[in-house]
Amino acid sequence: MRKPYIAANWKMNMTNQETERFINAFLPMVKGITSVDILIAPSFVSLGTASRLLESSNVILGAQDVYFEESGAYTGEISPTMLLSARCSCVIIGHSERRQYFSETDEIVNKKIKNARKNNLEVILCIGESLEEREANRTFEVLDGQLSGSLKDLSLEGMTIAYEPIWAIGTGKTASKEQANEAHAYIREWLRKNKEGADSIRIQYGGSVKPENIVDLMSQPDVDGALVGGASLKPDSFAGIVTGAAQK
Ligand code: 13P
Repeated sequence: MRKPYIAANWKMNMTNQETERFINAFLPMVKGITSVDILIAPSFVSLGTASRLLESSNVILGAQDVYFEESGAYTGEISPTMLLSARCSCVIIGHSERRQYFSETDEIVNKKIKNARKNNLEVILCIGESLEEREANRTFEVLDGQLSGSLKDLSLEGMTIAYEPIWAIGTGKTASKEQANEAHAYIREWLRKNKEGADSIRIQYGGSVKPENIVDLMSQPDVDGALVGGASLKPDSFAGIVTGAAQK
């Protein structure tokens, strides 16, 4: 039995003040929920504020990225040690927006995961196909390439996979529950063939998840949670997703 895992990826949204207002409103809404793992990944700038407010709560603190070196002359980058010092226990790596706008390759993603895991940070690895790739029936081939490149020489320990079809991100177009489960089942099968622990790893779905569709998505056997963008920016809508997932 895999525990449902709901994560907020705030992307480039929320100031420190907005982070504080959000968390103060959100925590009472999810108080006492222990059947779902809940994570918030604010911007780097808000990690300190979030860390202070989430201390001894049931919400885990995550970051949206990390660099693959330990320290040094890499202006603008953030190391695993810095994330740990902000009491972050998890990091999102390989988001499609980073692949698209910041030229992240599977090789870079792989180096980042290795650095995060070496420092005992948990990782949410994002993968997913574009609309063009889906329409050309290349979804599974794209997932194969991303999984083998990103997970090269890595075990599944401390890992979560987020399947985020690019065409469903921020577009209001959610994958149907069947489309989501088909991709998740494919990913799990790939992991079974290539790694140990495929049956216990959690696979989140991401792409226009809202309180209105979470129950449907979670009804699928291989959907273990969600990575949420837009709908995680309002306390009541993110709490609605968490409580929906708690029904699984
Ligand atoms: P939306 O929920 O806004 O579609 O974003 C999904 C996402 O990219 C989460 O990482």
